[in-house]
Amino acid sequence: MKIFLDTANIDEIKKGVDLGIIDGVTTNPTLVAKEKKDFKKLVKEICEIVKAPVSAEVISLDAEGMYREGLELSSISEHVVVKIPFTPEGLVATRKLTEKDVSINMTLIFSLNQALLACKAGARYISPFVGRLDDIGHNGFELAKNCQEMILSYGFDCEVIAASIRHPQHVIEAIKNNIDIATLPFSILIQMMKHPLTDIGIEKFLEDWKKANS
Ligand code: G3P
Repeated sequence: MKIFLDTANIDEIKKGVDLGIIDGVTTNPTLVAKEKKDFKKLVKEICEIVKAPVSAEVISLDAEGMYREGLELSSISEHVVVKIPFTPEGLVATRKLTEKDVSINMTLIFSLNQALLACKAGARYISPFVGRLDDIGHNGFELAKNCQEMILSYGFDCEVIAASIRHPQHVIEAIKNNIDIATLPFSILIQMMKHPLTDIGIEKFLEDWKKANS
């Protein structure tokens, strides 16, 4: 499974990349707004650090505006994936940008029907928001799993990004359901690495080593 970081924070991205296990980055307008930096410069900097797919989202709501923004964003770096919200206008923009060889991550996917339409429009990635579905009493991973199965059975050239991941158990669900990619807040990556028995084990090994060598 690929691991993307869901952040626009340079320190977090550098730390993740240093770990050597990051396959890409996703951002969204909320994450970018937190950084209080020039959007395009920030995207360029992230791409230079990650050297792998970096999703940058359009703000326009009309197809023409999304298309224009998408072309601008994709000109920043070969690594940019243009993130487009799922709407009818978004489908039109996705098709047009795909025809220009721009990779699209269609975001805010909350149903299998939306996922099918995104794939048919040519999206390279689709992002079902598992956490936000769980928030309203639905099963987020049921959708992610169905998206994954649909892509396999019809042979779409598209990868599923499980987004809106809220805790390490969500990552385990992604693994168990063979989801292509999970995009994680940095805090969850940290949580994934921790286990009290690992810490206790290291402490005990060192203690025994010191006893034997004192
Ligand atoms: O990047 C999209 C997604 O991961 C947002 O997550 O926690 O705001 O629902 P959240």
